[in-house]
Amino acid sequence: MSIDPHQPVSPYGTPIATAARKPVTLHRLRAMRDAGEKIAMLTAYDATSARLLDDAGSDCVLVGDSLGMVVQGHASTLPVTLEQMVYHTTCVARGNRSSWLVTDLPFGSYQGTVEQAVQSAVMLMQAGAQMVKLEGGGWTTSVVAALVERGIPVCAHLGLTPQSVHALGGYRIQGRDAIAADRLRAHARNLGQAGAAMLVLELVPSDLAAQITADYPGMTIGIGAGCRTHGQVLVLQDMLDFSAGPKPRFVRNFMAGSPSILDAVRTYVRDVKSGVFPDESLHGYSS
Ligand code: KIV
Repeated sequence: MSIDPHQPVSPYGTPIATAARKPVTLHRLRAMRDAGEKIAMLTAYDATSARLLDDAGSDCVLVGDSLGMVVQGHASTLPVTLEQMVYHTTCVARGNRSSWLVTDLPFGSYQGTVEQAVQSAVMLMQAGAQMVKLEGGGWTTSVVAALVERGIPVCAHLGLTPQSVHALGGYRIQGRDAIAADRLRAHARNLGQAGAAMLVLELVPSDLAAQITADYPGMTIGIGAGCRTHGQVLVLQDMLDFSAGPKPRFVRNFMAGSPSILDAVRTYVRDVKSGVFPDESLHGYSS
């Protein structure tokens, strides 16, 4: 039997990336969390990238509204529409075979009423999403509960929530002082109780992310939140060093030293699984 030197292997010795792997389910993601196996997630906005992520063994693919900046060239995610997210979700769903597919509810598609949020989520699920992601805590708890009750898996998103960039005063680290940290912990607790099976923590101190992770009933996925979450996510173009402008400190260039994009993504998956990425001293925030 020939051994593929690029085949990623989990810390438990199991191969984690084959073209024919079984579809990743919520049940499987929970089992990974329970076994201490890190979850790897990356963004994709098109079928080719989605297939590549799948081939590289990414557990999850996120059709992020970051496409507003990465694909459309806007300065923020705010202009992205629901119709555009539906379109990109159908593209990704066609390329994807087995990664768990999460799509962002864009700004303005769930802030009105619970009914509006349900209708928007239904459109994304019909386009091929398996889970929808929404930003913020507090008022979103009832939205999460309504979606979950209707059989729609939800990923919440706390910390730096890009749809609130103007209210937050820029893309800056969140939850630094005791009051803000308490608020984030309370929001996470309520979202978890409302049934959000996944929680993205963006740009929060790693100790706070670790505390939230320890209590969270679902899976936490960090981005600029240290290495003690259940998984990691990055924007694909950022980690391939293929995006314009300065990159956040927490991004590592996985193309450096990689002979191909597929190899770079495999390295990301392997390094997330083995805990090599992120290196908190380089890619995380303390407090
Ligand atoms: O839109 C996006 O890509 C995201 C990730 C950066 C978490 O929300």
